Amino acid sequence: MRLDKLLAQAGFGSRGQVKKLIRSRQVRVDGRLATADNLIVAPSLQTITVSGKQLSYSSDAYYILNKPAGVVSAGRDEQHQTVLDLIELNDRRTGLYPVGRLDRDTEGLVLITNNGPLGFRLLHPRYHVDKTYYVEVNDELRPDAPAFFENGIAFLDGIVCKPAKLQIISSSSEISCAYITISEGKFHQVKKMFLAYGVKVTYLRRVSFGPFDLGDLPEGAYRELTEEEKKDLKDYLD
Ligand code: URA
Repeated sequence: MRLDKLLAQAGFGSRGQVKKLIRSRQVRVDGRLATADNLIVAPSLQTITVSGKQLSYSSDAYYILNKPAGVVSAGRDEQHQTVLDLIELNDRRTGLYPVGRLDRDTEGLVLITNNGPLGFRLLHPRYHVDKTYYVEVNDELRPDAPAFFENGIAFLDGIVCKPAKLQIISSSSEISCAYITISEGKFHQVKKMFLAYGVKVTYLRRVSFGPFDLGDLPEGAYRELTEEEKKDLKDYLD
């Protein structure tokens, strides 16, 4: 693969930024200065260093990250910090991307991997991967609310959601708290479902995604999946 593409994918900036990095003589391949952006390299076979630090390359990487509000769950963004910016240089791998999207103001679990087919399957409706969110809303959640969510909510544009499970934690006319579990990933789905019920989401945090739990991972921190958790992934790859 081309050196500039590899460095861009490894998180060293846009193609333009990476070209500047190469021209500023900070990149070496197997100890030799690399001066051409289009140099073809094999990261699994060669040692590539940027400013003296070795680029780590492994075929598979799986991280769970606790996204803070304000950070975007995209690979790159001109204006805002992205979830990939929170991954330390040593842990960056080529092709890393967040699986699915959380809104910028939503916090919580984001799975980050460089395994393309896995992300595709985890998001595919056929696999029905459950996602659970902790939600706060600005008004009451009455005892009839779980049935409303269970019945499949219809949005104004005609889109009908699959049944969702609502577990009310507390309810008052000022603030109500609940867990909601959905098996789809429609745009702004949770916020729109609560709007359809008649209340506004004021806080949203994803606490689990498929077999993975956020646990007590601090905000902005990430960790690699354990070997046990990686075994769970096989169900989605067979
Ligand atoms: N549903 C939403 O409305 N927003 C999110 O970020 C995730 C699910």
